[in-house]
Amino acid sequence: MKIYQIDSSARKEGSISRSLAKKLLNKIKKPDDEVIYRDLDDEMLFVSGLTESGMKIPEDKQTDGHKKMFQLSDKLVEELKDSDVIIISAPIYNFGPPATLKAWSDLAARVNTTFKYTPDGKRIGLLKDKKAYLVITSGGTKIGSEEDFLTPWLKLMLNFFGIMDVKIISADQMAIDYEKSIAKAEKEIEDL
Ligand SMILES: Cc1cc2nc3c(=O)[nH]c(=O)nc-3n(C[C@H](O)[C@H](O)[C@H](O)COP(=O)(O)O)c2cc1C
Repeated sequence: MKIYQIDSSARKEGSISRSLAKKLLNKIKKPDDEVIYRDLDDEMLFVSGLTESGMKIPEDKQTDGHKKMFQLSDKLVEELKDSDVIIISAPIYNFGPPATLKAWSDLAARVNTTFKYTPDGKRIGLLKDKKAYLVITSGGTKIGSEEDFLTPWLKLMLNFFGIMDVKIISADQMAIDYEKSIAKAEKEIEDL
């Protein structure tokens, strides 16, 4: 099995989402499993400079900036396609995802590769037989509340790619009761 681990917290040291994701990985990883790791905080690009309505620019019209963008996009899509299990760790930033995670989704959404539309407008996700774990942390925002725009969005994004089996682990509202919040998340991992 190939496990794809994606971290997105903007802090490397002391990050709870990163350490919980590591615990989750250790819990589910079998000796023969391969792990592909991506730290969105190390390298990310924003979709920009497009000349058409979709993520498509004829090669002879691509600037160096476009080429870099498509190279990273191709790599991210390849990593996603290659994996059987995906772990995404993410803190809530201003009620939504970290900007790097949103940028990742923009680069990973490629028509006819990760999703497509049928002629009658039906949306079809093209990544099959994958399972995802989301490790979500927050300070004050309650997971699943109406101010949590990260969890439903990320779940929808993965569903959009065809990944329907999505399990959520959360250490939310850590600013309110840190110990309780961490203990809950660790128990959720332990019970997997
Ligand atoms: C830029 C920024 C924005 C944040 N916005 C929110 C927020 O909207 N709601 C919330 O509950 N916590 C917010 N927080 C707190 C983080 O979600 C919380 O500290 C989280 O645990 C950080 O994860 P980490 O330990 O993996 O870095 C924010 C933190 C940062 C740095």
